[in-house]
Amino acid sequence: MLIRKAPDIAPSEITPESIYRQRRQFIKGLAAGSALLMSGPAAALSGSAREDEGLRATGPEWLQKKLEAATASTEFSTAEKLTPFEHVTSYNNFYEFGLGKSDPKAYAQGLRTDPWSVEVSGAVHKPGRYHLEDLLKGVDLEERIYRLRCVEAWSMVIPWVGFPLASLLKRFEPTGSSRYVAFTTLHDPEQMPGQRSRFGTIDWPYVEGLRMDEAMHPLTILAVGVYGSALPSQNGAPLRLVVPWKYGFKSIKSIVRIHLAEQMPPTSWNRTAPQEYGFYANVNPAVDHPRWSQSTERRLPSSLFSPNIIDTQPFNGYSEQVAHLYSGMDLNKWY
Ligand code: MTE
Repeated sequence: MLIRKAPDIAPSEITPESIYRQRRQFIKGLAAGSALLMSGPAAALSGSAREDEGLRATGPEWLQKKLEAATASTEFSTAEKLTPFEHVTSYNNFYEFGLGKSDPKAYAQGLRTDPWSVEVSGAVHKPGRYHLEDLLKGVDLEERIYRLRCVEAWSMVIPWVGFPLASLLKRFEPTGSSRYVAFTTLHDPEQMPGQRSRFGTIDWPYVEGLRMDEAMHPLTILAVGVYGSALPSQNGAPLRLVVPWKYGFKSIKSIVRIHLAEQMPPTSWNRTAPQEYGFYANVNPAVDHPRWSQSTERRLPSSLFSPNIIDTQPFNGYSEQVAHLYSGMDLNKWY
């Protein structure tokens, strides 16, 4: 479900939704008689936000300023309950740091994310290597609360902070022959222990791709933050893709290269197991993974006694916005 933007609210008056919800939680706490003596701006944060404050990534000063100025996108955000910060940042897939869900948080903390640059190449009039800070100059950040559905049949609701990929691509002036966008993650075995492992399944670096119309879709964003703070390394700092209607593996982390191409680019999971992972990877409850059903998902947090299983929605609930991109395509074939 998407909630519509109220036309009479100026962007400057909009508080990032995650902060707003934390405030509401805090106010509820006040009403219950807790923390009665707190006052001033700090009181605006909920108890849970205060507890995890020390765990939040800070990022460079220029990024902090931009994150503080971020506004909430009500047009594109779901009103569903947020997955707590703790789960979003400790249950991760980032194979460069290991195969276990807790490995990225354990081993990614030393990743150097500043300075960071991104190479832009291929079918564009303005190729080059750009510093992240320059890429973000003049860009207004927005908070987008999206569902993330992993192909492994678990899901979360995450308040990303980012900006539309389309706005960035336009600045490089794609040529008429650009039909696909390819993305590459950092390849640095010294910093990324998973890339040193001899038992890895992925041919490094991790690569992903989108069709041009998918890349230009307003739901497709590049994220630099989560929960109002800089992205933690385990979530793909300092720059990652978020494509909410596709399985999570399309949302490539720690991007160092964006290449505009004429041909469909190779993608890591498709290269590893083409019969299991397609290029499109649109969330589809009607097309099962060869080894498990995709009709339901575990919405995190979930436990043995409270598994929190919900039905998976076509295009992860974003059909109204994106189904037309695939009209006429056999989604059993183009999984
Ligand atoms: N990007 C890179 N470079 N390496 C990865 O292993 N895992 C993908 C995706 N992006 C992955 C990646 C998968 S399978 C998922 S589900 C999401 O990241 C998980 O994002 P999160 O850890 O922020 O929830």
